[in-house]
Amino acid sequence: MTNNDATNNDVTQTPHEASNSRPARRFATAAVRAGYTPDSLHGSINMPIYASSTFVQDGINQLRGGFEYTRCGNPTIAGLERAIADLERAAHCRAFSSGMAATDAILRILLAPGSHIVMPNDVYGGTHRLIDAVFGAWGIEHTVVDIGDADAVAAAIQPNTSVIWVETPTNPLLTIADIEAIAKAKGDAKLVVDNTFASPYLQNPLDLGADVVLHSTTKYLGGHSDVVGGALITNDAALDEQIDFIRGGTGAIPSVFDAYLTARGIKTLAVRMERHCANAQAVAEFLVSRPEIAEVYYPGLESHRGHDVAKRQMSGFGGMVSARLADGANPHVPHGLGAKEAAEALCLNTVEFELAESLGGVESLIEVPAGMTHQSVTGTTLEITADLVRLSVGIEDVDDLIADLAQALDRLGT
Ligand SMILES: Cc1ncc(COP(=O)(O)O)c(C=O)c1O
Repeated sequence: MTNNDATNNDVTQTPHEASNSRPARRFATAAVRAGYTPDSLHGSINMPIYASSTFVQDGINQLRGGFEYTRCGNPTIAGLERAIADLERAAHCRAFSSGMAATDAILRILLAPGSHIVMPNDVYGGTHRLIDAVFGAWGIEHTVVDIGDADAVAAAIQPNTSVIWVETPTNPLLTIADIEAIAKAKGDAKLVVDNTFASPYLQNPLDLGADVVLHSTTKYLGGHSDVVGGALITNDAALDEQIDFIRGGTGAIPSVFDAYLTARGIKTLAVRMERHCANAQAVAEFLVSRPEIAEVYYPGLESHRGHDVAKRQMSGFGGMVSARLADGANPHVPHGLGAKEAAEALCLNTVEFELAESLGGVESLIEVPAGMTHQSVTGTTLEITADLVRLSVGIEDVDDLIADLAQALDRLGT
């Protein structure tokens, strides 16, 4: 989908018809307006849901509005793609049925038997499972590195390295990768940045030298925990065509209803992210103050090793916080539980933070990655210890969130 206009993009236009006549919009305006302008037919303020698997043709292969069959493209999905491309300041975006479907598509294009990929040692568990178990079976090698150390990333690059996979902040340890430094070292390899944790509101990796940006739109872009989706964004027209080809060929496109929901969520991205960031900073500072907590991972803390890089490449520090529980064998730790037991008990004690996987929705969630989202890396070099809890800090009143964590910590071991 070409994103060369967001004011003249009636969804009845073909993807490539739009003109480039508008001044640049600021982010919050683009989030509300990008991807759709009230259509010429009825003036609907919201993007219509084109619940149509096929489109009438005026002659053999004469497409009336540029669309043929929804597995290969649809006006509602195209509106979502224009919006995401606009927010990532990119030329092209393709929406997918999930973040993993998007991951699978870009890896199919960039990797071949015998090629090599470098990825973070705390990458999202599902991404590792796909690269290790699925692509590994097809003869693709991988090296895991500390993605927060740009020199270690550069040292891991081999002559057959086709992809450097970056998540920043990472899931679940909130490690910050220096995108610009890695882009300078990448050589012929393609740099793919999973921007799910930051969202385009906080970080635009293509501006920093990435070749492709990936989103699990399930998270902050959708924003309401009511839809699963993904997206691939690039400025490379040839690569975008390959992405379109793979998506159409494998049928990994989202449903039009899901595309609509995601586009609707995007309208409030700017205000939600401001609140996520403010709440997460306060939650992180609160956790630091508690004796039951051994370590807090949040890039907004000055003590975080990636704080300076995050300050440079992000406009805020995000809504995700992770923390290790202290071991009760230490006499200064009041709960008296083992760190793993304390982590699990904390997740069961909270009320406002619901125990659930996923992240980026308006409601606060808490989980134990070792036993939940990152179960698939158990027994690998990526193993996450069981004393870690991950919090997706929502947009509720922060005093309620802190009071909830305080009561949950107070009740540990009782
Ligand atoms: C950082 C990151 N990337 C990708 C994914 C996969 O996205 P999805 O669940 O939409 O397939 C996730 C899911 O949690 C994630 O956290």
